[in-house]
Amino acid sequence: MDKILVRGGKPLVGSVHVRGAKNAALPLMAGALLAEAPVVLHNVPCLHDVFSMDKLLTGMGMRIEFTGRTMTMEAEDGIVPEAPYDLVRTMRASFFVLGPLLGRFGKAKVSLPGGCAIGTRPVDIHLKGLEALGASIRIEDGYVVAEGRLKGASHTLDFPSVGATENIMMAAVRAEGLTRIGNAAREPEIEDLARMLNAMGAQISGAGTDLITVVGVEALGGTEHVVIPDRIEAGTFLLAGVATHGDVTVVNANAEHLPVFLEKLREAGAEVEVQGGRIRAAARNGIQAVDFVTLPYPGFATDLQAQMMAMLTRAKGVSKIKETVFENRFMQAAELVRMGADIDLEGNTAIVRGVEQLSGAPVMASDLRASASLVIAGLMADRGETAIRRVYHIDRGYERIEERLVGLGADIERVRE
Ligand code: EPZ
Repeated sequence: MDKILVRGGKPLVGSVHVRGAKNAALPLMAGALLAEAPVVLHNVPCLHDVFSMDKLLTGMGMRIEFTGRTMTMEAEDGIVPEAPYDLVRTMRASFFVLGPLLGRFGKAKVSLPGGCAIGTRPVDIHLKGLEALGASIRIEDGYVVAEGRLKGASHTLDFPSVGATENIMMAAVRAEGLTRIGNAAREPEIEDLARMLNAMGAQISGAGTDLITVVGVEALGGTEHVVIPDRIEAGTFLLAGVATHGDVTVVNANAEHLPVFLEKLREAGAEVEVQGGRIRAAARNGIQAVDFVTLPYPGFATDLQAQMMAMLTRAKGVSKIKETVFENRFMQAAELVRMGADIDLEGNTAIVRGVEQLSGAPVMASDLRASASLVIAGLMADRGETAIRRVYHIDRGYERIEERLVGLGADIERVRE
C-alpha cells in the first residue's frame, strides 16, 4: 500500500497538461460494445478505473489493445453479455455496460454496483428508463437480468442522472424507432459519448441539453474518437495553485466545461485568464470566502466540492457549501479539521470558517475526490508533513498526481508503506 507525503507552504507555479476525461473515457469504452467494427480512442487517461473497465470488457470477449494513450477495441463477435460482481463492485461505472449490451444483444446480466463511500448510489433511474424502452428486468442474486427487443419511447428521468442518461442513450441507439429522454443530464461527457456514437452511425440529437432524441438504427460501425479533456482534473490543479497562493496554468483544458467553477474562483479573489485551451489561475494576495451549491451540469460540479472546501479552509471569512448531488460527500471535512480547519456540518451544508494556517497530519483518503482535497490541504499546510494513506483512491482518477505536482514545485512524494 502506498502513501503520499506532502510538505506544504510553497506556492505552486507553472503549467500542467490535462489528461483525457475519466468520466468520458469510461462510458466511451462501454459504448464500444455497440460497434461491429473496430473503435479507436485517443487521449485515453492511464488510470486505475480505465484499467478496471479494460479488464471487464476483455472478460466479456472484447479485444483491447491499449498503448500510450490510444485504445483499440474490437467487439465484432464473441461478446458474453455478462458483468460479474467482483469487477462491477470495484468500479461502479462498469454498470454502464448494461445499456449497450441490452441494445445490441437484447439481453444482459450485470451485477448491481452496490453503494460506495459517498452514498448508496442506487440505479433505479437507469432501470426505469430501460423498462420504458420495453426491457423486462428482474433482480436475481444481486444481478440485474434484463432482456427484450427494445422499442423507442418517450421517458423523463426523475433526476438528471449522468450514468442513467448514458445507459439509456446507449440502449436507445439500437431500439426500434424514436426515443426521447427528458430531464436528461447535460454533462460534457454525455455530449462526447453522443459524438462518438453518431460517428459510429447512431442518430442522436440534443446531447448536452435536457432533451435527448434518438432514432434507432440496425447496426453501428467503428470510428476513431478523441476523449475530451478532464474538467475535474483541470479544476483540481487550478485549485491547488490558488490554494497555495501560486500561479498555475492548465493546458489542453476546456474552460467552457467549468462555467460556474471559474466564476467562483474569481469571486474568491483569484485572477483567472482563459486563452484557447489554456486556463490560468493566480492568487498571490490570498483568498476570500465564497458560498457555493453543487448542482448537475452546468452548475458547480460535485466532483470539485471537496477540493474547493480545502482551498476555503484558509480563506478570509466564512464560506457556506451545499452538496445537493450526493448524500454523503463531506468525508474530507473531518480530516481537514484534524489539519486545523474550522468546519461545521449541518446536514448537506458545510460552514467553513477561514483559519490562519493549516498544519500537516497523518490523514486517510476515503474516496477519489476527498483524497484530492487532502493533497491540496497538505500543499497548503504551513508546517509539518501530511501523510495520506489509501492513495489507491486517488490513482483511480488522477494519473501520477504527485509527479505532476512536483512539476509545479510541490514538495510531495509517494512512498511504499
Ligand atoms: C457520474 O456518476 C460520475 N461518474 C461521478 O463522478 C459524478 O460525481 C456524478 O456523475 C455526478 O456528476 C462517472 O461518470 C463514471 P449520477 P453517476 O447518476 O452517474 C442519484 C468521480 O469522482 N441516483 O448523476 O453515478 C445518485 O445516488 C465520480 O469521478 C439515483 O438516485 O452519478 C446521486 O445522488 C464520483 N438513482 C445522484 O443521483 C439512479 O438510478 C447523481 O448520480 C442514479 C443516480
